[in-house]
Amino acid sequence: MGLGGNALLKPSGNQSVSGEISSIKNIAKTIARLSSRFNIVITHGNGTQVGDELIKNKNSGLEMLPLYLLNAETQGSIGSIIETAINSSRPSKPFCTVVTHVVVDKSDDAFSVPTKPIGPFYTKRELGKGSKGQFSYIKENGMFRIVVPSPKPIKILEIEQIKHMLKRFNVICGGGGGIPVFIEGNSIIGANAVVDKDYTTQLIATTIKARRMILLTNADYVYKDFAGRKGKIKKVSVQEINSMIGNFEEGTIRPKIDACIRFIKNGGEIAQIGSINMLDKIIKKESGTLITR
Ligand SMILES: Nc1ncnc2c1ncn2[C@@H]1O[C@H](COP(=O)(O)OP(=O)(O)OP(=O)(O)O)[C@@H](O)[C@H]1O
Ligand SMILES: [Mg+2]
Repeated sequence: MGLGGNALLKPSGNQSVSGEISSIKNIAKTIARLSSRFNIVITHGNGTQVGDELIKNKNSGLEMLPLYLLNAETQGSIGSIIETAINSSRPSKPFCTVVTHVVVDKSDDAFSVPTKPIGPFYTKRELGKGSKGQFSYIKENGMFRIVVPSPKPIKILEIEQIKHMLKRFNVICGGGGGIPVFIEGNSIIGANAVVDKDYTTQLIATTIKARRMILLTNADYVYKDFAGRKGKIKKVSVQEINSMIGNFEEGTIRPKIDACIRFIKNGGEIAQIGSINMLDKIIKKESGTLITR
C-alpha cells in the first residue's frame, strides 16, 4: 500500500508537523483494523518533506547533507509518524519501519534530465532573491519548484529482511521511494536523487508476491480527462489502460498507472488507485480505479 506524500503533507509550505500527524491519524485507524485480515506493507512518498529538508540544510550555514541522506532522514521521520499512529490504534500485529535502500543505474537517463519536483513552491520574485541558484527548477501552474533526478529503482537491498519481518510483523519500507544507491564492486554508494515511490512500491509488491497493490493519493479515481473531471475509470484491464497511457500526466498519475501495469504483468492480481480517505471502500472495491488482467 503506497501512501501519497502530497496526501500527507501539502507542498504549500504552510502545513506543520502536527498537520502531518493529524492527517495520518485518520487512515491509521483503518489500517490498524485491516491488519486483522491482511499482511500489510506500507510505502510512502517524501516529495514535499525532502525538498523542505534540502532548503533547511542549505540555509543552516552548516555542512549540507547530501540528498541521499536527506531521503534517509525523511524515511525515519515520516516512518516514525506512520508507525506510531498505527501502533497507537491497536493493530493485530505491530508495524515496524525499515530503512530501505534501492539500487539505481548510473547510466539512467534521469540523471541528465531532472524531473521530480520536491519541496515548496516559489514565486518568480522569490527565486530572484537570495542564492537559490544552485538548484534546477520546474514551472508548475505559474510557480517554481526544485527538480531532482528520479531514476528507476532496480533492486531493493533489504528485501530479504523485509520478507523475514513480514512473517511476524507488518512493515513500513521503501519510504520516499527508498534511499538511492549505486553498487560499485562491493561498495554501496549514495546517489543524489529521489526515486518515485510508485515504482518502488511495485518492485516491493512484485518481489514479495503480494496479491493486491493499492496506491493511495488525493484523487478519488483515475480520470480519462482530469482537467474536466470527466471519464472516471472504475474498472479497467491492463491492456485497455495501457492503450491510453499517453493521455496521462508524467510525474503524477502516470507513474502510478505504469506501476499498476507492471504489477499485474508480473503476477499481481489486483491493483487499485484511489483516495487516501476512501481506503475502507477501496478494500471492498467500492471506490477507486481497479486494474486487473
Ligand atoms: N488523469 C488523472 N486522474 C487522476 N489524477 C490525476 C490525473 N492526472 C493528474 N492527476 C493528479 O495526480 C495526482 C497524484 O499524483 P502525485 O504524484 O501528485 O501524488 P502522490 O503520488 O500521491 O504524492 P507523492 O508523489 O508526493 O508521493 C492527483 O492528486 C491529481 O492531481
Ligand atoms: Mg507521486
